[in-house]
Amino acid sequence: MNTKVAILDEHNLDKNVLEECGYILRDGGLVAFPTETVYGLGANALDGQAVIKIFEAKGRPQDNPLIVHISQIEEIEKLVINIPDIAKKLMDKFWPGPMTIILPKKDIIPDETSAGLDSVGIRMPSNVIARELIKEAGVPLAAPSANISGRPSPTDIERCIEDLFGKIDYIIGGEKCNVGVESTVIDCTVYPPCILRPGGITLEMLKNVDANIYIDPAIMQKPNKDILPKAPGMKYRHYAPKASVKIIQGDVDRVAEKINSMIDEYKNFGKKVGVMATDETINRYKNALTMSLGSRNSIETVAQNLFETLRSLDDKGVDVIISEAFEEKGIGIAIMNRLKKSAGFNILKV
Ligand code: TXA
Ligand code: MG
Repeated sequence: MNTKVAILDEHNLDKNVLEECGYILRDGGLVAFPTETVYGLGANALDGQAVIKIFEAKGRPQDNPLIVHISQIEEIEKLVINIPDIAKKLMDKFWPGPMTIILPKKDIIPDETSAGLDSVGIRMPSNVIARELIKEAGVPLAAPSANISGRPSPTDIERCIEDLFGKIDYIIGGEKCNVGVESTVIDCTVYPPCILRPGGITLEMLKNVDANIYIDPAIMQKPNKDILPKAPGMKYRHYAPKASVKIIQGDVDRVAEKINSMIDEYKNFGKKVGVMATDETINRYKNALTMSLGSRNSIETVAQNLFETLRSLDDKGVDVIISEAFEEKGIGIAIMNRLKKSAGFNILKV
């Protein structure tokens, strides 16, 4: 397939490109676009045949439901059966932004979009290009992250092109995504609401609205057959680079010592090692390809750089990626969730 590519200026949007993409989407085609979290791969959420193409382009398991993106709060009314007060409060406070709310769906949402569930995830992104595209399309957009299924999500247009060029109709780009991890998914079909995937809107921020909100305990540990995560997507191997990933957690000095001894061991076996460190610790590692995720004093930067760093270490052909751990608070919960999944929960405490 011939894929068109355009880079848009958020402050001076190219109306012609948006109009063409809107037409493609109404006509059942696929357009990848930037959001504040990661790039999304959009199709008309109300058109089952269009949505099937997303699953094909990504190689995504059919039982994993898609998030439906809207551009105005009012659009939610024709998509869901009822909106509990707590959902209204969360929407008022955090939309537009990196939060997806799960609610009981109306029949207008086809089974292809909801993967046969009777609920649907709705999100109103804050990214200007995303919102204008949804408006131009005139229909809500089903949009998973714009990566080949299982790989780290793309946070810039180059990574999106790498995964999807030749498979979809159009890729539009803007600035690099400023959150860097996907939206927080929160189930409001139950009370208290339950966080199914930690993300840009943190547990602490949500608890300020309702102290009873909690995180699905199943996503904090290695999935097993007794406790399955409630979000179907959380049970798959995910965010995984080609290299195997190991996380080392503990006191900074001990972590550095352990990582350096692991580097030596892997080298003895002829393995190429990459280390994901931080600005504060990067100089502690010798004999490995070392990349900083950013400063520990600005954990938001670490979130922004996480997926791109995993992908660039892969490009450099490392066999093993060893990563430092992060404190599980604020957006650190989302960072550690993605890291643990990319490592298949291979985490060593020192
Ligand atoms: O930030 C984001 O949310 C990005 C951008 C593009 O908006 N999208 C995204 O979509 O991350 P995706 O498809 O990669 O992840 C959607 C997650 C999956 O884990 C899926 O299982 C869960 O949300 N999900 C969607 N609908 C659900 C539902 N009705 N019930 C439970 N989990 C649901
Ligand atoms: Mg994804």
